[in-house]
Amino acid sequence: MTLGRRRFLSLVGGASLAWPKAVDAIQRELASGGAQDDEAFWSLVRRQFSIPPDRIYLNNGTLGPSPRVVVDAVTEHTRLVASTYPPGVSWDDLKASVAALVGGEPEGFVFPRNTTEAVSFVANGLDIGPGDDVVSTDHEHIGGLEPWKSVTARRGASLTIASLPVPAADAGSLADTVWSTVSPSTRVLAVSHMTFTTGTVLPIAELARRCASAGVILCVDGAHPPGMLSVDLARLGGDFYASSPHKWMLAPQGTGLLYLSERWREALWPTLASGGWDDRSLGAHRLNHMGTIDESRPAGLLAASEFLQAIGAERIEARTRYLRGLLENGLRSIPGVDVTSPEAEGLKGAMVSFSLNGVESAELQRHLSRVASIRTRVIGEYAYGWMRLSTHIYNTPAEIEYALDLVDEVSRNGLSG
Ligand SMILES: Cc1ncc(COP(=O)(O)O)c(C=O)c1O
Repeated sequence: MTLGRRRFLSLVGGASLAWPKAVDAIQRELASGGAQDDEAFWSLVRRQFSIPPDRIYLNNGTLGPSPRVVVDAVTEHTRLVASTYPPGVSWDDLKASVAALVGGEPEGFVFPRNTTEAVSFVANGLDIGPGDDVVSTDHEHIGGLEPWKSVTARRGASLTIASLPVPAADAGSLADTVWSTVSPSTRVLAVSHMTFTTGTVLPIAELARRCASAGVILCVDGAHPPGMLSVDLARLGGDFYASSPHKWMLAPQGTGLLYLSERWREALWPTLASGGWDDRSLGAHRLNHMGTIDESRPAGLLAASEFLQAIGAERIEARTRYLRGLLENGLRSIPGVDVTSPEAEGLKGAMVSFSLNGVESAELQRHLSRVASIRTRVIGEYAYGWMRLSTHIYNTPAEIEYALDLVDEVSRNGLSG
């Protein structure tokens, strides 16, 4: 049992909490095996979820289904509070567990409700003013971009949008493309770690180095990689990293992450100010004082973090990449499919986007949902019109084969059938 879980148990009176024991049982069961194609292992993982067998969920990029241990943690916490017990969650345990999963120093973490809120905390917490420019891209989600639009509009600053290539060829040219829009008036570079449009991984470590030497603040919208790729926030660099653990970390809806590099922990202005906001000795924790919150969410986030660690970040990345590989290779072999995600392995994770010649993605989406209860996402933003499919640890090769067969059939016969 990890230190975090033991402390959590003692904090809330242990005996009434089932989920830490369930995580330990999962860890014991998953102690061996786990190669990317070890189907016996991954079917044990699948059994931890409540996803009906006839439902094919390929939209983790929007929202991750929580495994049962996470739902139990939320429910147990809610029940204890309703019984007038004040269980609470230890911030220290939560920070330690999340840092063990995604890297970074525990004291750098703040827990807002989602990426949108986290990026808003950054945009509103900096002293941006007239003459300052914020650089972003034409592949940002509204949650990562609109906070910057609103702050630059309100404060008389400007916003410059870099146009990213589709598909992207390599990390060096991507870094150069983004950097070509940076000027002496650039105060902030606000970009995704992985774009929601094509699942392209941006070269964040390289951009962080360039930002540091040019005195530009780097704010990364990391809604996707944590829980999908093995991430090390300390090595990645940059000033701020925002994420939504209710996506790939499989945490309950409404659990966000914001990581602040050391220099901002005492310096970022709070957007929500409560007691202690001006006590610099609290560091980033000043920003965790947000009034009364639903503490079942951090309880669920802790359970999700422990669950993922019971499986292991490297195993998870290998499996999600393996499944994406089956999906991507299959799509590339279907006549009329144009894959908009990059080919270079280093630029991609577990999301693939594509279009099918002559078929509207929204029509294809409806078809897949109607005939096989397959959940997908259409990237309607910026009028791109691509279909996006995500693969996570609960998906199976058989599900992917089935989805591919259906796309192949539509490519040959259209949607009339
Ligand atoms: C890249 C990216 N950033 C931000 C968001 C917004 O996330 P949230 O709604 O959790 O704030 C999303 C949601 O899909 C996203 O894909």
